[in-house]
Amino acid sequence: ASTASSPLKQACVSTNRDDEFANLDWDNLGFGMVPTDYMYIMKCSKGESFEHGQLSNFGNIELSPASGVLNYGQGAYEGTKAYKKEDGRLLLFRPDQNAIRLKNSAERMCMPSPSIDQFVDALKQTVLANKRWVPPPGKGSLYIRPLIMGSGEILGLGAAPEYTFLIYVSPVGNYFKEGLAPLNLYVEEEFDRASRGGTGGVKSITNYAPGLKALTRAKNRGFSDVLYLDSTNKKNLEEVSSCNIFVVKGNAISTPATNGTILAGITRKSIIDIARDHGYQVEEGTITVDELIHADEVFCTGTAVGVAPVGSITYQGTRMEFKTGAQTVSQQLYFTLEAIKKGLIEDKKGWIVEI
Ligand code: COI
Repeated sequence: ASTASSPLKQACVSTNRDDEFANLDWDNLGFGMVPTDYMYIMKCSKGESFEHGQLSNFGNIELSPASGVLNYGQGAYEGTKAYKKEDGRLLLFRPDQNAIRLKNSAERMCMPSPSIDQFVDALKQTVLANKRWVPPPGKGSLYIRPLIMGSGEILGLGAAPEYTFLIYVSPVGNYFKEGLAPLNLYVEEEFDRASRGGTGGVKSITNYAPGLKALTRAKNRGFSDVLYLDSTNKKNLEEVSSCNIFVVKGNAISTPATNGTILAGITRKSIIDIARDHGYQVEEGTITVDELIHADEVFCTGTAVGVAPVGSITYQGTRMEFKTGAQTVSQQLYFTLEAIKKGLIEDKKGWIVEI
């Protein structure tokens, strides 16, 4: 991910919170943390429900060294984005889907979760309170990071006695330092991302740090990201460390089926729908790494990533190249999805929530 220095370093933050836009270098947003004005926090004890959430100034939180999240990784997160329209209205994309997925993730990690209404309401409050940090149209989006963690103290292995749900936000541009340029992926064979019965299918925080070793190694070799294979046969495509993967051949588009080891991406699901609307035949199933040689195009999808074309995949020393640029399927699907999210075309699916 582009971790270029925060645009805040190049510009002073305005102290007038009523300004329409925060004082940022909006033309140079990467995917780095920019502290904003407010965050949302809601707590509950084990066995109880979340209630009485509220906004507070953005800042550090206090955690016991013995908290469940710090010691045993009891946590799950979400990612979604808000966009600003020319008329200043703010748009969220399918926030109910994030609420449902967080519920599933929390359940897998033995944590309580907010109701769908609580989640969506908290999202709206957080985005509205940070309105001046939502980039101008065409300059990026406000990335929203909801998080649930076992914040209570627990010394022996077990579910924490207290939970914290919080939401923070940051204005972002492109996820990869490549911007919208094609990605070069490396097929990882030493390390696995997920295995049967594990947590690969949910957005547990524990799914991500174990991938850092492979990711860092691939980046040091000049690749954009790694592509994982299934841990049993080391033959079938699973996902990239930060996004799902699609393969295009003629009019057919395929993506690995979400069978417990693959994250059910909301962008993934939306692209499947959009592709079917455009007349493509979309299949969720098994795709072997050897089949890539016959692919016309490959692309990745994710909230942070969006729809990113893949220019090459390197497997066992062989670099396979794919079509990218104008007139590609991925670009057609990318434009449609972006237009829906930004309110530039009619939302016939009821995906957009205006706030
Ligand atoms: C997202 O796309 O929102 C994610 O959570 C991926 C993360 C690695 C940035």
